[in-house]
Amino acid sequence: MDLFTAIKERRSCRSFLSDPIEEATLGKIIEAGTWAPSPMNAQPWEFIVVTSPEMKEKVYAEAERCRQWALRTSGWSWLDKYQIEFLKDVPTFIAVIGDPKKSGVDMFLEDGSVGYQYACAAAAQNMMLAAQALGLGSLWFTLFDRKKMGEVLGVIPEKKVLSIVCLGKPSGAVAPVGRKPAAEKTTFLK
Ligand SMILES: Cc1cc2nc3c(=O)[nH]c(=O)nc-3n(C[C@H](O)[C@H](O)[C@H](O)COP(=O)(O)O)c2cc1C
Repeated sequence: MDLFTAIKERRSCRSFLSDPIEEATLGKIIEAGTWAPSPMNAQPWEFIVVTSPEMKEKVYAEAERCRQWALRTSGWSWLDKYQIEFLKDVPTFIAVIGDPKKSGVDMFLEDGSVGYQYACAAAAQNMMLAAQALGLGSLWFTLFDRKKMGEVLGVIPEKKVLSIVCLGKPSGAVAPVGRKPAAEKTTFLK
């Protein structure tokens, strides 16, 4: 699939078939993640690939706890309708773990280490585009407490769970989501 087609056709998928992802396909997706740019090529990511039903259940439980907390705290009514059972049905997800020590000069600046998060975001997007090109749906999931999710996944406290990338065959059509025209978001300084 052409890159521009993959970019335009990728949409967040929140309902998956349980069909397992072939090892070779998963390997290509993960390798695409590793080709992301990073500060000083520090490659601050690690990937935890989850297929075990027991671990999916634990991840779901932590995300659900966070969803309930967010519902109470924010008062956002849409959170009540937003169900996350797909975390149990999705055949595979990849937790993207970032190392704040592997950042750029930002480490020494007032706002602190952020470059590692950008790099891990680029890796997540690479994996989602690769999944799209290989005929899979994906979702970038972040509705969890990073510290608590780190404990669930056995990540040392110095490293952060930045996102969970869900991957699988979509169950049915994925809802189209539009974008504002690029011209509305762009300024040319000539
Ligand atoms: C940093 C980030 C965090 C996100 N977290 C969630 C999430 O926790 N749950 C979810 O369902 N979607 C999440 N998304 C997906 C967005 O909701 C989605 O990308 C957006 O609505 C646009 O839809 P599209 O991806 O189909 O174009 C996240 C996306 C990003 C980039």
